[in-house]
Amino acid sequence: MNDAAIGVFDSGMGGLTVMRALMARLPQESFVYLGDTARLPYGTKSGDTVTRYAVQAAAALVKRRIKLLVVACNTASGVALGALEEAFAPLPVIDVIAPGAEAALAASPSGPIAVIATEGTVRAGAYVRAIHARALDVEVMSQPCPLFVPLAEEGLIEGEIVDLVIHRYLDEVLAKEPRALVLGCTHYPALKDSIARIAGKGVALVDSAETTARAVEKRLRDGGLLREGPPAPHRFLVTDTPERFARVGEIFLGRAIAPASVELIDLQ
Ligand code: DGL
Repeated sequence: MNDAAIGVFDSGMGGLTVMRALMARLPQESFVYLGDTARLPYGTKSGDTVTRYAVQAAAALVKRRIKLLVVACNTASGVALGALEEAFAPLPVIDVIAPGAEAALAASPSGPIAVIATEGTVRAGAYVRAIHARALDVEVMSQPCPLFVPLAEEGLIEGEIVDLVIHRYLDEVLAKEPRALVLGCTHYPALKDSIARIAGKGVALVDSAETTARAVEKRLRDGGLLREGPPAPHRFLVTDTPERFARVGEIFLGRAIAPASVELIDLQ
């Protein structure tokens, strides 16, 4: 199984920010990434719908022989982790919320911590639970920022419009003086520079991609699953618009995506 790929799944292309960190930390591994672009956004949908989509997406990756599943989508991590672990046991499943909570507490051990995420993640209370499971007394505040997703998908990551939207969502949160701000959605790291400028120097921005990559490395090492052979080419699966994925995905992955490596699939 060592030479099987690592499966990474997200509702769209935002999870490529997690894959970027994974590729940097585990350059010898090969990855198969699935972006459910036909059904994005997950963040505004019910927990039941997101769970059904997540199980279908994971099944498509399992069919392609993976040794570990990374749920790169915060919304799916927040509502579907248990269902995924149960449906595909004993496949190791790593989510982005537990590593994000740990990174937030490392940046601000006594809080307060602000979490920005999709409506679905905030509604599920996943970050609050994960932080309180590790530090019960830390104050956590949550704020959904739904417009950040289309802004990032459009490549609009700085400028007047972006600043206005950030102020609209974050002014009230920042007035409560959080010490750490968790970017609890795959797309938000694309706006990191603009958010950091508005949040100011006293607020540590926490991006779970790096800690997730560390958690994946540990799990592979502990399970004796690190790849031994030379890396195979990475593959990308999408449920809609492969050309757009290859073009815009570059913003999130930080490197070009060959259109020929993107395959259109149907999850129904
Ligand atoms: N991938 C989602 C997340 O991290 C953001 C995009 C969506 O709403 O589907 O929560």
